[in-house]
Amino acid sequence: MDAFVINGGSPLRGTVEVSGAKNASLPIVAAALLAPGESVLLGAPKLADVSTLGLVLKHMGATVRHDDADGSLHLDTSNLHSQEAPYELVRTMRASILVLGPLLARYGHARVSLPGGCAIGARPVDQHLKGLEALGATISISHGYIEAKAPTGGLKPGHVHFDVATVTGTENLMLAAALLGGTSVLHGAAKEPEIEDLAYVLMQMGADVEGAGTETITVRGNPHLKPFRHRVLADRIEAGTLLVAGALMGEPLTVKGCILDHQERLLHCLEEMGAKFTLDGDSITISRMERPRPIDVRTAPYPGFPTDMQAQLMTLMAVGQGVSTITETIWENRYMHVAELDRLGAHIRVDGRTARITGVEKLSGSTVMATDLRASACLVLAGLVAEGETHVRRVYHLDRGYEALERKLAAVGADIKRVREP
Ligand code: EPU
Repeated sequence: MDAFVINGGSPLRGTVEVSGAKNASLPIVAAALLAPGESVLLGAPKLADVSTLGLVLKHMGATVRHDDADGSLHLDTSNLHSQEAPYELVRTMRASILVLGPLLARYGHARVSLPGGCAIGARPVDQHLKGLEALGATISISHGYIEAKAPTGGLKPGHVHFDVATVTGTENLMLAAALLGGTSVLHGAAKEPEIEDLAYVLMQMGADVEGAGTETITVRGNPHLKPFRHRVLADRIEAGTLLVAGALMGEPLTVKGCILDHQERLLHCLEEMGAKFTLDGDSITISRMERPRPIDVRTAPYPGFPTDMQAQLMTLMAVGQGVSTITETIWENRYMHVAELDRLGAHIRVDGRTARITGVEKLSGSTVMATDLRASACLVLAGLVAEGETHVRRVYHLDRGYEALERKLAAVGADIKRVREP
C-alpha cells in the first residue's frame, strides 16, 4: 500500500495546474453508453475512479483507451454484450450507479449492484430509482442487485420530482431522458457545475437540455444520439485544495486553470480568514497567511460551500486563531479526519454535525491514516504545514480523486514523496 512521507515547512512557490474534474468525468463517461461509436473525453484526469468506471464499461464489452500522449479517454460502446455492473466494481466506487439510466434507456434493461454504504454516509439511491420509475421503469432489488426494466417500447419521457437535490441522481436521469423521444422535466434538480458540463455533452450528442445549473432541467431527448468529443471542465475541488495549500505555505503559489465562478464560496471564506490573493484570468495567486481568523462555515449544495472542501478548510482553521466551526449538512459521517488531525496536534471537537476547531500555533508531524478521499487531502495539507515528518498512510483513497498530487506539490517546493509500505 502506498503512503506519503512529508517533511513539513517547505514553502510552495510557482505555478501548479488543475486537472480535469473527476465528478464531471464520471457522468460523461457514462454518457458514452448512449450512442454507438467512439466518444472522446479530452483532458480526462488519470484517476482510480475514472479507471474504475472504464472497467465497468469494459466489463459490458466496451473498448476503453486512455491516450497518454494527450490525456484523452476513448470510449466505444458499439458492441456491448452485457448490461450488468457487478458488485466487485461498484463496491469500490458508488458512482458506478451512473450507468443505470443510460443502459435502461438504450437497452431497456440493466442490472447494477446496489452500491451499499460508504465511509462518509449511507449514500442511498432511492431518488435515482424513483426518478427512473417516473419514466416507466420497473425496478426490483434481488440478491443485492438493482434489476431495472423498461416497459415494451422503452422508457417514456415524463416529469421527475426529486425529494432531495442529488448530484448523481440528477445526472442519471438526464442521461436516461436524453435518449427518449420527447420532453422530460426534472424538478428539484441539483445545480452543481458538473451537471452543466454533462448538459453540454448531451447537447453535443443531439439532445436539447435547458436549465442545467437551476433546479428545473428540461431535456428534449433524441433516440439517435451521436458520440461526443468534449474537454472536461477543471476540477473545482482539486483547485480549492491547492488554494488551501497556498494559504498554508504559498510564497506565493499560483493555481492555474481555475474557473473563478466555481471558487466563489471558498474565496469568500479565505478572504474572511484574512487571505491575500490576486486573480488573473484563470489563475489565482495566493500567499501564506499568518494565523487565519476564525470563521463559521456550513456545507450546502452548490452554490453553497462544498462538502468536498470541508476537510481541507478544516486544516487551515486548525492552525488559525480562536474557534472556527464547520457544520456538515450533506453527509452524516464526514468527520473521520478529525481524530487524525488531532493526532497532529489540532484541537477539534465534534458535536453532532458541528465541528469546533480551536486554532493552535503549530501542528507536529506524526503517522496518520487516510480514511476517504477528501480526508486524505486534508491530512496531506496538514503534513505540509506540520513541524517534522508526517506519514499519510493509505493514500489509495487520495488516488481516487487527485491526479499525481504529490508530484504537483513537489514541483512547487513541497518535500513530499510516495513510498510503498507493507
Ligand atoms: N441522497 C438520498 N437519496 C438518493 C441520493 C442522495 O437521500 O437517492 C442524499 C444523500 O444521502 C446525501 C444528499 O442526498 O445526503 C446528497 O447526495 P448526492 O446524491 O448529491 O451525492 P452523490 O451524487 O452521491 C456527489 C459527488 C460527491 C459529493 C456529493 C455532494 C460525484 C461522483 N460525487 O455525490 O463527491 O460529496 O455529490 O456534493 O459526483 C467526492 O468527490 O469526494 C465526493 C464524495
